[in-house]
Amino acid sequence: MEKRILLIVGGGIAAYKACELIRLIRKAGMTVRCVLTDGGAQFITPMTLAALSEQPVHTSLWDLKDEAEMGHIQLSREADLVVVCPATADLLAKMAAGIADSLATTLLLATDKPVLAVPAMNVRMWDHAATRRNVAQLRVDGITVMQPDQGPMACGEFGEGRLPEPEAILAEIERRLSQPFASSMIEKPPLTGKHILITAGPTHEPIDPVRYIANRSSGKQGYAIAAALAQAGANVSLVSGPVALSTPPGVTRIDVETAREMQAAVYAALPADAAIMVAAVADWRAEANGQKIKKKGNTPPPLTLTENPDILAGLAQHPQRPGLLIGFAAETENILDHARAKLARKGCDWIVANDVSGDVMGGETNSVHIVSKDGTESWEKLPKDAVARKLTEKIIHALAPAS
Ligand code: CTP
Repeated sequence: MEKRILLIVGGGIAAYKACELIRLIRKAGMTVRCVLTDGGAQFITPMTLAALSEQPVHTSLWDLKDEAEMGHIQLSREADLVVVCPATADLLAKMAAGIADSLATTLLLATDKPVLAVPAMNVRMWDHAATRRNVAQLRVDGITVMQPDQGPMACGEFGEGRLPEPEAILAEIERRLSQPFASSMIEKPPLTGKHILITAGPTHEPIDPVRYIANRSSGKQGYAIAAALAQAGANVSLVSGPVALSTPPGVTRIDVETAREMQAAVYAALPADAAIMVAAVADWRAEANGQKIKKKGNTPPPLTLTENPDILAGLAQHPQRPGLLIGFAAETENILDHARAKLARKGCDWIVANDVSGDVMGGETNSVHIVSKDGTESWEKLPKDAVARKLTEKIIHALAPAS
């Protein structure tokens, strides 16, 4: 059956991009019905949205004719997915607080369908502690909040806060709709309402503008875990180093390059119910040269290395330490001894230890041991997605309320 989108257009200059989004949604074979907020109507008109969507456009909670034709509760339930685009700082704040003071916010509170919010705002508003708090709350509440793009803004500033391109928003809509658990919030999958933070992939530490230090991590294991947790209904934030993988359905991905960027992104994504640090973080960074280092005679340039922050150990000491903190240990010898030492040294709850002496890094299978204060579980060699599903089952069990 044709998928139906309810598109709530908020009040920001990016509202004009909602017009292009409507065109793309329809081209992808879906129907779209629009709700325009008062702020949104300062930027585009109901007529534009009606013409593009070929559907009536709703603007007021107090419209008797609208309410007689289709009540606001029905409007909030008949769609397969509710998309808020652009989601302004004000709309995000109202959603996080459960305020219902307009048609848009009332629909968002009344809906039983998955919600995707696509923020767009000034960089300082996006970075403000209040917005960070609201976004974190929305993610805990099970709402997918896309990461805004970086770049020049309509207000003349530069930074993170631009609306993602309509093509990227459509891809996220399609991912949300293909997520098996997303079609109904009534049949609750086991990790509904849990926010889980994952790091994956390598980090790249620049030496100069064209060279970097890296490792062989492909990100496959971390991405498989993110996919399995999202399938189980969790709200997943995946902080990813540079990898050649596509984002699993329903996962919020935050791309970073260096260890320090990864740490900042992890802290910004808190609070979380659980965190799984799968990334192969570079232990050292080089003093990066502003210009490409040139060859000088036969003497190679010296490389001075500085230790990177330990993201996992830092998270264990953080005031918002996730209730379940899981580290990975990449070892080539004495796997269990090293894993037990790491469990204690890093202050996490479990260590997933793997032998990386063979073809694990970049390969398709993994054989792991789960080390915790309760002992060690050794799993047979499995494909990485099977390891991910088994680990997800263990996490579901650990996060289940004690009965
Ligand atoms: N880790 C991290 N930050 C770092 C280094 C590692 O968060 N700077 C995390 C990894 O994501 C993993 C765990 O710590 O969950 C162990 O990583 P590993 O590379 O095995 O251990 P190291 O701490 O680097 O120790 P060593 O290289 O001595 O084995």
